[in-house]
Amino acid sequence: MDSHITIFDTTLRDGEQSPGYSMNKQEKLRLALQLERLGVDVIEAGFPIASDGDYETVKEIGKIVKDCSVAALCRTRQEDLDRAVSALQHAVKPRVHTFIATSDIHLKYKLQMSRSEVLDSAVEAVRFARTHCDDVEFSAEDASRSDPEFLIEIFTAVIDAGATTINVPDTVGYALPWEYGELIRTLKQRIPNIDQAVISVHCHNDLGLAVANSLMAIQNGARQVECTVNGIGERAGNASLEEVVMTLETRKNSMNFTTSVNTTEIFPSSQLLAQITGKNVQPNKAIVGDNAFAHEAGIHQHGVLKNPLTYEIMTPESVGLTCNKIVIGKHSGRFALCKKLEELGYHLSKEHLDQAYRRVTRLADEKKEVNDHDLIRIMATEKFSADQKPRQMAAGG
Ligand code: KIV
Ligand code: ZN
Repeated sequence: MDSHITIFDTTLRDGEQSPGYSMNKQEKLRLALQLERLGVDVIEAGFPIASDGDYETVKEIGKIVKDCSVAALCRTRQEDLDRAVSALQHAVKPRVHTFIATSDIHLKYKLQMSRSEVLDSAVEAVRFARTHCDDVEFSAEDASRSDPEFLIEIFTAVIDAGATTINVPDTVGYALPWEYGELIRTLKQRIPNIDQAVISVHCHNDLGLAVANSLMAIQNGARQVECTVNGIGERAGNASLEEVVMTLETRKNSMNFTTSVNTTEIFPSSQLLAQITGKNVQPNKAIVGDNAFAHEAGIHQHGVLKNPLTYEIMTPESVGLTCNKIVIGKHSGRFALCKKLEELGYHLSKEHLDQAYRRVTRLADEKKEVNDHDLIRIMATEKFSADQKPRQMAAGG
């Protein structure tokens, strides 16, 4: 069975939908280029019918992103589909992502539609999208609270109509890992034409289970995971990209899957998002929190200094941090700064190095030591950082 997991990043769409995380067009373009550098397979760039700004942003992202698929979200309504197709006109690898709810609770109270009306609407939307685009994803919103028999029926029909990915969202973060795994297994076993589509999962974190549910889904046949940088998203957020990817990396001995993500771009991506939105990552956040690789307790420090394997299950370098061999303080010179930035993957011109040096010495005046986090933060706020960071080989294969 295929062991590659497609990473579908929805930071710019679901992530941006959460309160306090809205971004302007320039900020989204910057983040899209960073996501491309990170090596995600699909960037969901926005929801073009939502606003003119979203439409323009998806269009621009389609122009500048070359290596990833660019997805636009739309309901199954004709005006939504038209807007999504139009917004994707310049994308090298466009994907139309259309969705409609399938749970009885949504049908009754939100859509006021019958199951057969929902099914017809989904099939029509997918059929139309396929006349414009070879890559069409269909999402059954609130799938985890939908009747599995109806899911089998609607997914079979949309695959017949041309859907290339079928997404099974746990929209309200209600599922338990074993239930969700079982649902994915059932769909894989019972949808007769499932060999013509990829099964995708999209988990929300209301009970803190989004990553666990995504992993269970992979174990049971899902091959696309929808996730966001720093786990941002509606309410308690979406599955965190860095946690899914680093679990697959770190536990290859148990789950033998690969992604195209260049893991050394994880920390810079996290920092860029935090800087753009002005929302810091919680210090104890797995993988990207300030304390994720910090050791305070004496016993731990002793062990880590003797051999990092004692208390570290992955290296800081693997997510884009360096070990602090060179400590930058106010007495450090340009040479040390240049070396340190090179370790972090930034190769600056003399002019940009001078600019960075001035920022760093100002900060060093305020705090004793300028650490990797500070430097990456500074680089993220300087316009030149995006141009200067070279591409690196994907760690995930
Ligand atoms: O949570 C959800 O169901 C969604 C869909 C639009 C995929 O975000
Ligand atoms: Zn969602």
